[in-house]
Amino acid sequence: MSSTDKNKKGFSTRAIHACHDKSDPYKSLTSPIYMTSTFEFATAEEGGARFAGEEGGYIYTRLGNPTLNELEMRLANLEGAEACLTVASGMGAITSVFWSFVEPGDEILVDETLYGCTFAYFRHGLAKFGITVRHVDMRNPDNLISEISSKTRIVYFETPANPNMRIVDIKAIAKIAHNVGAKVVVDNTYSTPYLQNPIVLGADIVVHSATKYLGGHGDLMAGVILSSAEDMQQIRYVGLKDMTGAVLSPMNAFLVARGLKTLELRMDRHCDNAEKIADLLEASKKVAKVYFPGLKSFEQHELAKAQMKGFGGMIAFELNGGHEAGLKFLNNLELCKIAVSLGDAETLVEHPASMTHSPYEPEERLKYGITEGLVRISAGLENAVDILADIEQALAKV
Ligand SMILES: Cc1ncc(COP(=O)(O)O)c(C=O)c1O
Repeated sequence: MSSTDKNKKGFSTRAIHACHDKSDPYKSLTSPIYMTSTFEFATAEEGGARFAGEEGGYIYTRLGNPTLNELEMRLANLEGAEACLTVASGMGAITSVFWSFVEPGDEILVDETLYGCTFAYFRHGLAKFGITVRHVDMRNPDNLISEISSKTRIVYFETPANPNMRIVDIKAIAKIAHNVGAKVVVDNTYSTPYLQNPIVLGADIVVHSATKYLGGHGDLMAGVILSSAEDMQQIRYVGLKDMTGAVLSPMNAFLVARGLKTLELRMDRHCDNAEKIADLLEASKKVAKVYFPGLKSFEQHELAKAQMKGFGGMIAFELNGGHEAGLKFLNNLELCKIAVSLGDAETLVEHPASMTHSPYEPEERLKYGITEGLVRISAGLENAVDILADIEQALAKV
């Protein structure tokens, strides 16, 4: 659905108030949850007219629902997009986009480092249907120039990328892709619309796993797609309606909307805590390398500074002792949790090679920069001194 009052107020103000549905007769402060699968028609003719697109109004929750609609308008406002669609998970968002636009014979170009299940979808899913998927190291936009062709339908990447924090120059990639008429799809999960707006920088479509920072409390699964109104017609009525059916529950839409109200506050704290963790890790003799865009030593620090408002809450690092030392570190944590997912109140630590990025073959991980000893931290919202003390004591035992 389209948003109307884009960019007029500050981020938190819009995250709380934008596009509030004022139609509730009781003037409930929080919007009601329309926990329904279907909507009654006044007459058979009205039902027919809605199906034919001759008349507005809700039909069936897979096609639209007032709780989802309000959240969609708010998210479009925050991301600076014309239109938004909420879906059941981040993977539901990614697959709904691709099934909407690709055909057998098409080629898509994707970055080397991707979330493990996204990688699996490209490698084992799309590839079965006659779609060629090729990986390009998009840290250098020149690599894309040599690979792209008129057959390229979509260019896809994450920035910062999960798990090794590689940054891709959104503006530069969009320019190259648009020269051949390809769409640019960016996974903005790590940054959220608070820290980075790929559509404003030239991307065509943005996807999020709202399971992460947008929901923010580790208690739901959800996905978000943002694009032009024209592209969204196709994604909603082909990708979601007919191909994936990955519809979001109204209850979870309510929880995402609740999470959004504190997104700015939470992101500021996630960013501060991550910066402190990165500094601690960089100063430790046990640590071989830290990947955090806020560090001056980070190779792409200047690019991150130029396209992000803050450096986010995710950190990756390698211990001197490699894989074995990484597992020992995880097993000695007391406050931080050993868990996948990210963006929650709790600090979460995981081992990508054996967990989130296990869908890659070991040789693929090696080739695409996901080392076996890499440890990923999602900085939580706890007090920084407590997180740092826990990390320090676990490092001492490695
Ligand atoms: C960057 C990124 N994109 C997409 C996804 C998939 O999201 P979901 O788990 O909500 O399906 C994840 C999940 O970890 C992720 O980290």
